[in-house]
This record gives sequence, structure tokens and C-alpha cells, in this order.
Amino acid sequence: MSKTLQIGIIGGGMIAQAHMKNFANDSRTALRWLAEINPEARAKSAETFKIPHASGDYNDMLKDPELDAVVVCTPPVSHREIGVAALRAGKHVLMEKPLTVSPEDARALLAESLKHPTIKISGCSARHARYNPKFAFVKKMVDDGLLGQVYFVHHRALARQGRGGVEYNPNAKWFLDKTKAGGGPLYDWGVYDLSFHLGVLGEPELTKVDAFCVNGLDQVVTNAPVFTVEEHGGAFMTFSNGMKYFWERANNAHVEVPNQTTILGKKGGLRFGFCTWDSAEFEFFDVDNNGTGKARKQVLTCDMQGHKDDMLPLGQGFIAYLLNEGPAPMPLKLEVKNLEILHAVYKAANW
Ligand SMILES: NC(=O)c1ccc[n+]([C@@H]2O[C@H](COP(=O)([O-])OP(=O)(O)OC[C@H]3O[C@@H](n4cnc5c(N)ncnc54)[C@H](O)[C@@H]3O)[C@@H](O)[C@H]2O)c1
Repeated sequence: MSKTLQIGIIGGGMIAQAHMKNFANDSRTALRWLAEINPEARAKSAETFKIPHASGDYNDMLKDPELDAVVVCTPPVSHREIGVAALRAGKHVLMEKPLTVSPEDARALLAESLKHPTIKISGCSARHARYNPKFAFVKKMVDDGLLGQVYFVHHRALARQGRGGVEYNPNAKWFLDKTKAGGGPLYDWGVYDLSFHLGVLGEPELTKVDAFCVNGLDQVVTNAPVFTVEEHGGAFMTFSNGMKYFWERANNAHVEVPNQTTILGKKGGLRFGFCTWDSAEFEFFDVDNNGTGKARKQVLTCDMQGHKDDMLPLGQGFIAYLLNEGPAPMPLKLEVKNLEILHAVYKAANW
């Protein structure tokens, strides 16, 4: 590996801007290539971040022997093809989330990665989950037994008019097409929800699911050819450890419910918002005198001082992984497992 890690970005849209900022500002990395099919976007980003090589075809960068790693920032429909090509070219890979649009694509990417044991590959769903101090905070409480046996997780996050490709990143019409995006809010944010909730609870396996999905909630003009993703969806799941998980997400519903998780165990319960921008306070409910006394509620605070945003730790985690100084930000096997759960939810919803 070269002294300064040489990074290539594939897809120079919204999220790529944050990745490029990370790698441009880190002395251990240099941005060497940008592949972007839109010539104006390509020229603009190449100039802003002083990237010496740019092309409309990502295969050009994959031929460069000096290039160490690529970050795949294109819409999900192209992730499998690009990820496989990068692995075959011997480049380390950071795959944006959602990993792919189908479990078949995800498993194919995993299978390809296993053929290249010296090439590193990671997903990105650690971004709002494992790298957030709240993840370690909750995991420690669970592991220390403060909640006792966890029997129920409840998570809701329902927004109004926050649709990808409409109100959010409105130029990215692919967000509305299930064949290109893989899904709506259940998919886009579900990768983080599962990464956080199942991660703190020891990665149980899904055994049963019932679900619903809906769209067409208003007469929005999307200027997009199709609108096949859900706006609102939910699931009731059972896991291998017997735990039940009620989960609901909407980027458009006729109600507003802030991002909130409740984890209930036989000894205690925890209520919080897991995102960096949610409150750092956690409500912890238990019974004093070792369960024999009075019901009590304590407000605990997670120290978020060293964690201002979620992109920087992801970039630094990937660099540490490349330098053999840390684990994969999100191991591909787990990324595939969670994606399979999301598709089981869609199947149960006949969506
Ligand atoms: N926007 C966000 O807030 C956000 C956050 C986290 C993750 N992501 C994920 O990042 C990925 C990209 O999302 P985005 O919001 O940046 O989308 P975007 O539409 O803003 O950017 C995607 C870019 O990829 C380019 N592109 C498409 N196919 C290409 C190809 N074959 N080769 C080179 N360039 C190609 C497009 O021209 C576009 O500029 C998605 O998987 C998304 O879920 C987005």
C-alpha cells in the first residue's frame, strides 16, 4: 500500500461531498480519482477537491495501479456491479448504504469478497449506529445486565414530506424507484435502525415478521417516471432469542413522531433517540432495591462532546481499517444479514 492512501470516489453526488471532505482533510489519504457520469458535477467536484484524475467511467480508475481504495457513492442499483468490479481490480472498497437493491446482489457481492481475502470491504451502515457514542452507551447497559432479559424493542420515526427525490435531495429521482433505490424509508433508514438495535442486542436472527407498506398519501407532483417506494411502512418481528421488535418508519405520513427507541427488559427499560442530533439524554426506568422497591426513573446523559457529526468517524474508521489499525466499520456479512431482514419485511408486506 502506498504511503499516502490513494482514494477514488465513484459517484460524485450528495453523500460523496462528505466523503471527499473527509479524505481531502486527512493527511493519511489523498483523493486521486473521481468517476461521475454527469460532466458538470464531475468538473465541479474535481476542482473543489483538487482531484487530479476524473472520468465518466469508473473502470478508468480501477486500471490505475497507484489507486488503493474506492468509495462507491452511486445509487444502490449499481452497487453490486461496481463493488464486484472494484474487488476484481484489487481495490479496497467502502460501499455506501443500502448495500444493494436485493439480497441476491448482496450475497453475490459477499461471495466475490470472499474470493479476495486480502482485499478489504466494508459497508456504511455504521454511520449513525456503531460510531455513535450512544451505541456503546446502550450496549454497555445491556451487556452489564441493567435491563435484564430484553423482550421488546419499539422504534418509531415518522416524518412528513421528507421524501428522498421530492423534498430531500430532489434531483435524485432514483430514490422514488424501488428497482433503483431498493426501497423507501424502511430501506434507506432501516439499515441504520437494524445496525443500531440488533447491534446492541447481540445480532439475533429474524424468525417471523408481519408488515405493511403504503404510498400515495397525497397528490405530490414528483416529476419522476415512477414512484414505487413506500412512504410509510412498519413491521412486527420476532427474533431467535424470542425478542419482539415493533418498527415503523415514514418519510411521509399524516402524523409526526420523533425518532424514538424503547428497549424493554425484565429488569429495566430505556427510552432514547439514537441519532447524533437527538437529545443525549436517556430515560432509564427500573425498580430500586434490586427490583424489590419503588418504580424509579433516572435521566442518564451520554457524553457526545467528542462526536460532532457522523461522517468523520466513518471516514476515520475506514482509514484505520485500511491501515490494519481497526475493524471494518460495518462487516459485509452483517450488512447482508440486515438487508435480508429488510427484504423479508417487504415480502411480508407484499410490497
Ligand atoms: N444523500 C444522503 O444524505 C445520503 C446519506 C447516506 C448515504 N447515502 C447513499 O449514498 C448513495 C448515493 O446517494 P446520493 O444522495 O449521494 O445520490 P445522488 O443522486 O446525489 O448522487 C449519486 C451520483 O452518482 C452518479 N452516478 C450514477 N451512476 C454512476 C456511475 N455508474 N458511475 C459514476 N457516477 C454515477 C450520479 O450522476 C450522481 O451524481 C446512495 O446509496 C444513498 O443511499 C446518501
